[in-house]
Amino acid sequence: MSAIEAVDLTRTFRAPVKQEGLWGAVRSFFCRQYREHRAVQAVTFRVTEGEIVGLLGANGAGKTTLLKLLTGLLYPTAGMAHVLGYVPWERSDAFRRQIALVMGQRSQLWWDLPAADSFLLHRAMYRISKADFQRRRDSLSAMLGIADKLHIQVRRLSLGERMKCEILAALLHAPRVLFLDEPTLGLDVVAQQTVRDFLAAYNRETGTTIMLTSHYMADIERLCQRVIVLDRGYLLYDGDLRELARCYAAEKLVRVEFADTVRLEELLRIGSIHSSYDRTVVLRVPRGEAADRAAQLLSRFPVADVAIEEPPLEEVVCAIFRRSLLNSDEQPIGGTTDHTA
Ligand SMILES: Nc1ncnc2c1ncn2[C@@H]1O[C@H](COP(=O)(O)OP(=O)(O)OP(=O)(O)O)[C@@H](O)[C@H]1O
Ligand SMILES: [Mg+2]
Repeated sequence: MSAIEAVDLTRTFRAPVKQEGLWGAVRSFFCRQYREHRAVQAVTFRVTEGEIVGLLGANGAGKTTLLKLLTGLLYPTAGMAHVLGYVPWERSDAFRRQIALVMGQRSQLWWDLPAADSFLLHRAMYRISKADFQRRRDSLSAMLGIADKLHIQVRRLSLGERMKCEILAALLHAPRVLFLDEPTLGLDVVAQQTVRDFLAAYNRETGTTIMLTSHYMADIERLCQRVIVLDRGYLLYDGDLRELARCYAAEKLVRVEFADTVRLEELLRIGSIHSSYDRTVVLRVPRGEAADRAAQLLSRFPVADVAIEEPPLEEVVCAIFRRSLLNSDEQPIGGTTDHTA
């Protein structure tokens, strides 16, 4: 069975268009213009149980809106979704017991209480047996390295400690599908790594399906074999993470270590410089000509070592987002007029 299934899932937001000046304000009071913004546009995909899927997209691409639709926090404008066979926005008790949503920007814990007390509320809410609760709390807090932080008031915890408590709380009822919206946002590099190592181990051990968004490519590379890329609400790409570069990066990198010094102007005939350190230079070359350019290097220069590489994910994603910005012709879509203002 699919853990998550979305078919033509669409969500439109309607916002009043502000008109300039006093006269504009008077006019819009009597004849309000609305602008429709399709945050998620006919998105279709399927996730099987046990997968980890990364959701990528520039700011405003629709990632959070999609997660809110899949967790039933928003109704769709059109289309359908099923999570574990349930329609999310029906918010049935059985559905809510089997999913969890962690949002990096919003806390589910009570700030004035220690996390341990919030966990007890969770236990009551989800009717978790005492034995299950204690076992999960103890093993999760050990895995996340926060066993000694559970009795401190949440408002006194560091961001990283609080985030780990948020994740622990979300997993106490052992959901089968876990949605995470920027779970490592603002965390230091060590805390980020702890969280992503934890998620990888948790997925491996429990088979929990995970769908997450992150602007940190290290998270995506560590956790996701598969990514879905949203571009202004549309699904732009759904597939293997490594294939993303093949589809969207026009260039490849040739890393070459020279046995001797070389003349820069001759090297620039092979490709542009991506970076260099000591006698190692990384050149950008057109994707289709990478092998040919590497061969030219070998024949014309004193080469000690050469390798052809994909550009870093960060650069691939940056190119996709930049292209999306260049193509954005932000016309009001289906603008409507409402006289009932
Ligand atoms: N409640 C709302 N009312 C009106 N517009 C909204 C609402 N929620 C989201 N939007 C708009 O929908 C679009 C998608 O927003 P969303 O929060 O899903 O983006 P995102 O991909 O999560 O971005 P980010 O990376 O910045 O978190 C944005 O243009 C946003 O302004
Ligand atoms: Mg978001």
